[in-house]
Amino acid sequence: MAGDDRTAKDRQLDADRVDPDDSVLTTDQGIPIGETDNSLRAGERGPTLMEDFHFREKITHFDHERIPERVVHARGAGAYGYFEPYDDVLAGVTAAEFLTTPGTRTPVFVRFSTVAGSRGSADTVRDVRGFATKFYTAQGNFDLVGNNMPVFFIQDGIKFPDFVHAVKPEPHREIPQASSAHDTLWDFVQLQPETTHMMMWLMSDRALPRSYRMMQGFGVHTFRFVDGDGAGTFVKFHWKPKLGTHSLVWDETQKIAGKDPDFNRRDLWDAIEGGDLPEWELGVQLVSEADEHKFDFDLLDATKIIPEEEVPVQPVGRMVLDRNPDNFFAETEQVAFHTANVVPGIDFTNDPLLQARLFSYLDTQLIRLGGPNFAQLPVNRPLNEVRNHHRDGYHQTTVHQGKAAYHPNTVGGGCPALAPDGYVHYQERVDGSKIRKRSESFADHYSQATLFWNSMADWEKDHIVAAFRFELGKVGEMAIREGVLRNLANVDHELATRVAAGVGVAPPEKPASRAGDRRSPALSQDNSPKDSV
Ligand code: HEM
Repeated sequence: MAGDDRTAKDRQLDADRVDPDDSVLTTDQGIPIGETDNSLRAGERGPTLMEDFHFREKITHFDHERIPERVVHARGAGAYGYFEPYDDVLAGVTAAEFLTTPGTRTPVFVRFSTVAGSRGSADTVRDVRGFATKFYTAQGNFDLVGNNMPVFFIQDGIKFPDFVHAVKPEPHREIPQASSAHDTLWDFVQLQPETTHMMMWLMSDRALPRSYRMMQGFGVHTFRFVDGDGAGTFVKFHWKPKLGTHSLVWDETQKIAGKDPDFNRRDLWDAIEGGDLPEWELGVQLVSEADEHKFDFDLLDATKIIPEEEVPVQPVGRMVLDRNPDNFFAETEQVAFHTANVVPGIDFTNDPLLQARLFSYLDTQLIRLGGPNFAQLPVNRPLNEVRNHHRDGYHQTTVHQGKAAYHPNTVGGGCPALAPDGYVHYQERVDGSKIRKRSESFADHYSQATLFWNSMADWEKDHIVAAFRFELGKVGEMAIREGVLRNLANVDHELATRVAAGVGVAPPEKPASRAGDRRSPALSQDNSPKDSV
């Protein structure tokens, strides 16, 4: 992009862009270098000398080029773009200006990813896809760190390390899995029925996206909008691709993984380079605070959707990706998304999965990006000025001025004024005993899995059955296969019977009854956005 079309983020990045053709070769200390192909030696055939500072610096820097890959979502592709709201229809619902001020173009950086594989793994494996968006708003950075599926495997984040250990290669041999087929994942699944709904999505064609440009995105958790008066409204975020949602078929994915492991990232890069700009519509499902308990599932349970026929998705804006990064490492690898990065008008709920994420992302980035100053990296820096009392630490690039780095102080300098319109946390009343116990309202693990199965066309059901057969058929322990099938029988007995026939296991008993059958919610009021005019 050039000229006036460039976003504020693009202009901010200008200062960090370096063109190697602009100057002569130097060391990191700026010493001009005229020869870089031969080390300094004692005689033409002699040993290399320690005093060759150019040689030492070149090798040392190379030796330290790698940083840890992300513990999950290591394989990804990113792009810049912008978001603009259609109108001010959310103005009475949230104080987030980037969502409510028509004509505002907020720069974004989006990173798509697979979850389980390491950095060099193939794009087209059966997996969830990450869909993380950083909005560089005038009120600071808002990160919507979502996936291409609307639910998750577990209800409480304390199980995330267990789950990821089960998904990743088995620890004794570390053989990467081309797909999710191995004993540890399926053992986890059979023992944790809360995974059942998400496993239905994972065995569906949603796990094989044709292109990042043709993927839906979901914030998954119920978040909270907060208006200017401090009133809250529950919200679920949805991205809908303008190109529609499309998948590959299993046979294609396996062939492509061999022929072009970079298939999805290449597609994204080429489309943007060719001016075929990917676009998504942002939609929201809104639920009033009064309706919190009117569903037959818990809004705080990330293994549940809010069915769209009960609360429609309302379009609120669009996002276009229009520029590829200049440097994969600097931008796509060093970008740091965090669910806790919210702006005034957006807040959290007590979803125990979300609560865990609020801790985890910053914690992991402290090691992945080498200390507490990664927010200063060009891709992570907000558009507005950062002023606070944080000081020092590895990779500090700001030269802070003033004598005092504490608040309040009387000596002057280093003391930014408090913002009159600063972020205020939603004043939710919290009252309870400290207990380690899952709420009964999280107990129904099957109804929505059944809902998903029943919503599939016959050919989609065939694909799901084939996927379960393929993956479960790779599990060595027959007892694990049987355990998974017992869970599936609670979703749909025909599904379980069809899968069993393909994996050498007797069909499970048909369960006599199942707790938690769906009932319709009785919503107390219209859930459409409040009209601000
Ligand atoms: C990374 C989504 C649950 C920990 C990511 C990324 C996405 C994502 C999209 C990649 C971010 C990027 O592109 O840099 C989700 C979703 C979840 C979920 C949608 C559930 C709804 C969790 C939970 C935890 C967790 C429960 C921990 C308790 C992490 C960590 C990373 C990560 C540690 C690596 C971050 C980094 O190194 O920068 N997640 N995640 N996630 N997620 Fe999650």
